[in-house]
Amino acid sequence: MTDENVQNYSEQLKELGIEHQILKHPHLVDAEKVQAFLGDDISGSVPTLIMKAGDKFVAILKRGDTRLDSAKLKKVLGADSLRMANKEEFEEVTGVPVGAARVFNPGLVTVLDKNVFEKEFLNGGTGSFTLTIKYKTEDLKKIPDSLVADITQAVGVDVNRRRRIFAGMRPTGRLHLGNYLGSAKGMLALQNDPKFETIFMVVDLHGITTPYDNTAYQENIKNVMRDYLAVGLDPDKSILTVQSRVPEHIELAYLFSTVTTIAKMTHLPTFKEKVKQYPEHSTMALLNYPVLMAADILVYKGELVPVGIDQEPHIEVTREIARRMNQEYGTDFPEPQRFATKGEYVPSLTGEGKMSKSVEGSYISLTDDLQTITAKLAKTPTDAGGPGEVPKEGPVANLFKFTELYKPERLEYYAGLYGQGKLRYFEMKQELAGAIFADLKPIQEKRNQITDEVVEKVISEGAEKARKIASETVAEVKKKMGLI
Ligand code: TRP
Repeated sequence: MTDENVQNYSEQLKELGIEHQILKHPHLVDAEKVQAFLGDDISGSVPTLIMKAGDKFVAILKRGDTRLDSAKLKKVLGADSLRMANKEEFEEVTGVPVGAARVFNPGLVTVLDKNVFEKEFLNGGTGSFTLTIKYKTEDLKKIPDSLVADITQAVGVDVNRRRRIFAGMRPTGRLHLGNYLGSAKGMLALQNDPKFETIFMVVDLHGITTPYDNTAYQENIKNVMRDYLAVGLDPDKSILTVQSRVPEHIELAYLFSTVTTIAKMTHLPTFKEKVKQYPEHSTMALLNYPVLMAADILVYKGELVPVGIDQEPHIEVTREIARRMNQEYGTDFPEPQRFATKGEYVPSLTGEGKMSKSVEGSYISLTDDLQTITAKLAKTPTDAGGPGEVPKEGPVANLFKFTELYKPERLEYYAGLYGQGKLRYFEMKQELAGAIFADLKPIQEKRNQITDEVVEKVISEGAEKARKIASETVAEVKKKMGLI
């Protein structure tokens, strides 16, 4: 025997043209138990929430396995406050006990979450604890005063998911030992860590924001990619490609520029420095650099960015853009964080500062052979070789730093010799050159096997994978911005 109220309700549904079927079960209050009895789980249910948005009550229909995103719902309703109805309010508004709400509540606006329609049928309330109605979800759109919107958190967002990392490498030149030990090795560790999903790109579009040689550019880009492949970046583990092969970065950057002020960009220290360095090149592209970088990261909804402290202002801009977009258009961009990878400080061969591409004679290239490395080390300045304490800074300190990196077991021996004034730098440098070369040799051998075809294949296949993700984000943003 079905209850009279439920019969009446069923008649109303029929009038609205909502296809449904009444199912009987023992007296059960808990939706999970009802579902279990009916041989389903919570994802097959459509509970009704009654909420107070501003000064109005609304009915919210969402699938039992999804979580409400109240920020999204507030936006959809244009409400400045939102809360669950209390027991009295609930019963007053629905006329049924808490836990038994129906999907159709005359007089209320009903918001249907878009995920509801992923299932053909869903079970919902009837006002009775012994009856459940199986609804044809498509027909729920016929509920008067109803609208469909995205009001839940993305499904599958949980703490165990792999966090996405994006890093861009400027194609300023070939990798040297400092880049290798200081950052590339850290990238390899991220790539091989199952907690992360890694996307690494040669950011050629950033590389043209300052003067560059267009005739050698393509070769530089490919060489940088080849270097990274040689040290161990692996297209089976990371998405590897070149930025301009994924045009969605530019498209998203343009859309982002609509929420970015000129004032903010001109005041960034990074912009000011570059303009000072290249006064003739104060271009729109340079001004737009941080916006493009935000697009690089956010087009993949990247959460972590392994870059140095100098890039912090850019990451801050990225977060601001994410927030603005989420507020204005209801997107769900994360606010990315910068983090440091484990890396070694590699000193310059000149004896001052760190190894740098822009200081001639300061670096060892990954492709240097034993002879070249020996010759470069031979040129590094030294002193009389003691006696006394090993200096804490300067050229000799740097040589000891190299020893620590490459021949840690000989550190005490050389410090001892220095103390006695017996250190012969020739021997020390010979030994270091041999150790550095031994470390680089397998990389060089691997590099020799990476043909132009292999590099091109990695780049184009990487671009394809990247575009799959990036095009979805761009489509979502364009839709939310009203462009499609
Ligand atoms: N600006 C970065 C640098 O100079 C390069 C870069 C461009 C980047 N886009 C990025 C780094 C995105 C991390 C994420 O090092």
